[in-house]
Amino acid sequence: MTSGAAGFHQGSGWDTRYHSPALATEVVALLGGSALVLDGTLGGGGHTAALLDHGVGRVIGVDRDPDALAAASERLAEAMANGRFSPYRGNYAAIDTIPALAGLRFNGILLDLGISSHQIDDAARGFSFREGAPLDMRMGSDAMQSAAELLDDASEDELTRIFREYGDEPRAARLAREIVRRRQSRPFESSDDLVGAIRGAFGPRTGPPEFARLFQAVRIAVNDELTGLARALPMLRDRLAPGGTFAVIAYHSGEDRMVKHAFREWSTDCICPPRHPMCTCGGNHATGELLTRRATVASADEIARNPRARSAKLRAWRAK
Ligand SMILES: C[S@@+](CC[C@H](N)C(=O)[O-])C[C@H]1O[C@@H](n2cnc3c(N)ncnc32)[C@H](O)[C@@H]1O
Repeated sequence: MTSGAAGFHQGSGWDTRYHSPALATEVVALLGGSALVLDGTLGGGGHTAALLDHGVGRVIGVDRDPDALAAASERLAEAMANGRFSPYRGNYAAIDTIPALAGLRFNGILLDLGISSHQIDDAARGFSFREGAPLDMRMGSDAMQSAAELLDDASEDELTRIFREYGDEPRAARLAREIVRRRQSRPFESSDDLVGAIRGAFGPRTGPPEFARLFQAVRIAVNDELTGLARALPMLRDRLAPGGTFAVIAYHSGEDRMVKHAFREWSTDCICPPRHPMCTCGGNHATGELLTRRATVASADEIARNPRARSAKLRAWRAK
């Protein structure tokens, strides 16, 4: 196995304490055997290790987070030494700015969106609603502001939009108003301040499921995740070699919707509005083929082993 000794625990062969890759077997079925794969969300290198173990010639790994690059580089040191793995720090939504990747075309591209278990577990990173954690949430130094700065500076309208669009929160305006009211007397600094505002807006019985959803909304805003994904999808599609496969695992409904619509649109010849009586677009617009009519989800066994896989949705598309 490529995956070295970086602390395996029971589970799929590619789990480490850093992170357990979701749907690894399904990702291998889609991308295994490819000559060159871009893993745009390298994390602890679990998916990359699985791909290198299944006939992928070379993997280029990209992550915004230096911790992820360090963990994956240690784990995949042997593959790195023999030229089968090359890590780069960067944003998958801006791979054109990584000079070493200029002009490369990939036979497979993987995005496993969101954050890793390591990022959640490291209290100093401020991704969790655990008591007393700093409100940071930046995945890398390319994120413009911390969660605390965002909560202290964003307008009430912007906060409402963030909680409504990224957190599916129907009472978003009430929470935004509560945040603006509280920050007038004291700036937001720790997880307790945001938990306090959520409880202040929605009542003392509000608990972990709401905190998780609303903290995630702030994280998505801090890291520009949805707009980054929207920018990245067509750009990465254009970096696929003919016949190359694009696979995306999403954990958030907004991200999954975006991927679903993009893959469908790229697989459709006629792009006229749905109830248009006849085709006026000229047809023949499909640039590839949808490989997953419905999203692939984790089995009950995988969810029992890795609860984070519960919300994972994998979709794939193949270029012509
Ligand atoms: C779910 S984890 C990936 C785990 C990985 N597949 C594995 O098996 O270990 C997501 C990773 O993507 C990174 N990430 C998220 N958004 C990114 C972006 N726009 N560009 C580069 N990396 C990103 C995060 O820092 C995190 O390490």
